[in-house]
Amino acid sequence: RRLMMLGPPGAGKGTQAKRIATEKSIPHISTGDMLREARRKGTEMGKEAARYMDAGQLVPDEVVIGIVRDRLDEDDASQGFILDGFPRTRAQAEALQQMGIELDAVLNIVVSDEAVIGRLGGRISCPSCGAVYHEMFNPPATPDVCDACGYQGLIKRDDDQPAAIKKRLEGYHAQTAPLIAFYQEIGALVAIDGEQSPEEVHDAIAEVIG
Ligand code: AP5
Ligand code: ZN
Repeated sequence: RRLMMLGPPGAGKGTQAKRIATEKSIPHISTGDMLREARRKGTEMGKEAARYMDAGQLVPDEVVIGIVRDRLDEDDASQGFILDGFPRTRAQAEALQQMGIELDAVLNIVVSDEAVIGRLGGRISCPSCGAVYHEMFNPPATPDVCDACGYQGLIKRDDDQPAAIKKRLEGYHAQTAPLIAFYQEIGALVAIDGEQSPEEVHDAIAEVIG
């Protein structure tokens, strides 16, 4: 299966994509996670990307397209994958097509700006394994400790500050939302109501992808 998650920041793309990837035994390919990893490792690319990310801006297309091309070339992606956070611009969507990738389903997770602000404002993330929690909606079993990997010291992402959240939402509406029409034309788009519980969102996705 070749799946893609579309939707605003904080829609729950990562939360859902991780679970689907495990259930379907396909890799979860998240450009946000890959960029944060490059940044942790301190590579030149990671340092450059960090400047954009902290400001709530998109990293340049060439950089992100290069990362995704390399990742999709790896063996484990040959039987399918779930893309999360890519493509995010028209140029990225066209680059994906030029790589010869046809998506079976584009899951458009629909969530209002108000909900996004509440979710990102309360998000806590595991810097070790990338698991995400929410102070109110989905707290870890033990405060500050990752349920998934046991790491102690959950963090708030640098770009989950109010000014960066606002910028990310603006960027989403200007650059990413137009992809809804793009994928609708191709006939791959499926709308999922993202303002239900994580469990209900998961079930709606599972119904679509079988
Ligand atoms: P990225 O990491 O992709 O961030 P994003 O798109 O802003 O998405 P998020 O990770 O913020 O949200 P999500 O939809 O995954 O929601 P989550 O599941 O965490 O990108 C970060 C940056 O990297 C970008 O700003 C950009 O600079 C750069 N970048 C990445 N890809 C790029 C690209 N292709 N091109 C250029 N630049 C790129 O959930 C959010 C919160 O809500 C959590 O706290 C969660 O617990 C909670 N939650 C989830 N589901 C529910 C629910 N159903 N009900 C209540 N709470 C919920
Ligand atoms: Zn963890």
